[in-house]
Amino acid sequence: MNNKAFYLETFGCQMNVVDSERIVDLLDGIGLHQVEEPDQASLILLNTCAVRDKAVRKAYGHLGRFKPLKDRNPALILGMGGCIAQQEGKQLLEEFSYLDLVFGTHNVHRLPELVQQVADNRVRCDETEFLDRETRLQLFPSRTGKDAFTSFVTVMQGCDNFCSYCVVPYVRGREISRSSGEILDEVRELAEHGVREVTLIGQNVNSYGTKEKEISFSALLEQVNAIDGIDRIRFTTSHPKDLSDDLIDCFGRLDKLCKHLHLPVQSGSDNILKAMNRGYSRERYLSIVSRLHQACPDIRLSSDIIVGFPGETEDDFTETLSLLEMVRYTEIYSFIYSPRSGTTAADMKDEFTAEVKQERFNRMLDLQHEISRHTWEADVGGVQEVLVEGESKMGEGQLFGRSTWNRIVNFSGSPELVGRLVSVKITKSFRNSLLGELSEGH
Ligand code: 5AD
Ligand code: SF4
Repeated sequence: MNNKAFYLETFGCQMNVVDSERIVDLLDGIGLHQVEEPDQASLILLNTCAVRDKAVRKAYGHLGRFKPLKDRNPALILGMGGCIAQQEGKQLLEEFSYLDLVFGTHNVHRLPELVQQVADNRVRCDETEFLDRETRLQLFPSRTGKDAFTSFVTVMQGCDNFCSYCVVPYVRGREISRSSGEILDEVRELAEHGVREVTLIGQNVNSYGTKEKEISFSALLEQVNAIDGIDRIRFTTSHPKDLSDDLIDCFGRLDKLCKHLHLPVQSGSDNILKAMNRGYSRERYLSIVSRLHQACPDIRLSSDIIVGFPGETEDDFTETLSLLEMVRYTEIYSFIYSPRSGTTAADMKDEFTAEVKQERFNRMLDLQHEISRHTWEADVGGVQEVLVEGESKMGEGQLFGRSTWNRIVNFSGSPELVGRLVSVKITKSFRNSLLGELSEGH
């Protein structure tokens, strides 16, 4: 390699964010440092997402943008990892003559060796083998919390649910949970390094430990709650079918657990939920929501929704709208369905046009926008506890942090407050954030 610099782009979910941090550490171990501009690098890596068509097109678009750099500098090494790499494997090398390296979701740890191989021998290579359970257990990504007050902690990986639209079980492999001892050690170490808030992550955290006969996820939360120095706990992603009563009770019982839960419903129609293979009905989902409110009256929820699943009629869609009105999520992440090859829904008959789906999507966004606006505006005048995460881009003397409901709050204050929990009086609500001022005696 003609210089010791690499450029890395990350697409998709928290899993990829964590994998990318690991990539940075691993490459640092072989003397490569990260740069902000691709034209300064001798190695360019894309860590990709295959969950929806849009993310896939974006990754290919970015890959294409690097071709001229490779034309100018043939020694440049271009690599693709993550879920697209896992799904397409070797084919990517056949399709893109300027790509040198493909590494799958189970092979991040081999990156230094693979990069070295390409650089030394000028060969192209691909590595997308899934690993066995024993090896995977040894390789759970861990973090040390350098320079951060919040951190993800990986508790499990993979998914066994096979929702009919979703590619994740195919590109991430089967569920595997990390030992609770290792997780708790990591949280303790993070706390010692100054981390105040941890988010326990996994594709399906509610089924944590079932295969391994580990402690339950609620017991794990309880133990994280007991760790000194940690002020806040979040977790994601939850599957409604696996949300136990015990876990619901945690929201009333554990003082550090934030009062926000991302609980993707995907659709409000029983017909569609069934076709999606989600494993719960509308009624069951709504009863979980009401139990959550009983356990913690001021809990707030967010969700993922797919519009235009094959066979979704106007009536099915109306059921989704009515569910949004009943649950009143603070936020939804909504997607127009895109067929993913290899999934069962990819073969389902789909009679509605892209225009119909787009029109429904817009209608849903309008409704949700009103619901969200209403919730956040009602917060104006109240005082919220905020974990200060840093200085805000809004200007000098401005800080930002998050409330228990995961809403960004901006306010003025001195930089010594970064990393602390403070009380902020909310003065204004914007589309994506709240504005406030430090409250007396914070
Ligand atoms: N089409 C549209 N949205 C999808 N999601 C997953 N697969 C698809 C697909 N094929 C959405 C789901 C999931 C989120 C991460 O992405 O809503 O919860
Ligand atoms: Fe995909 Fe369903 Fe697994 Fe979530 S639970 S990752 S939507 S298969």
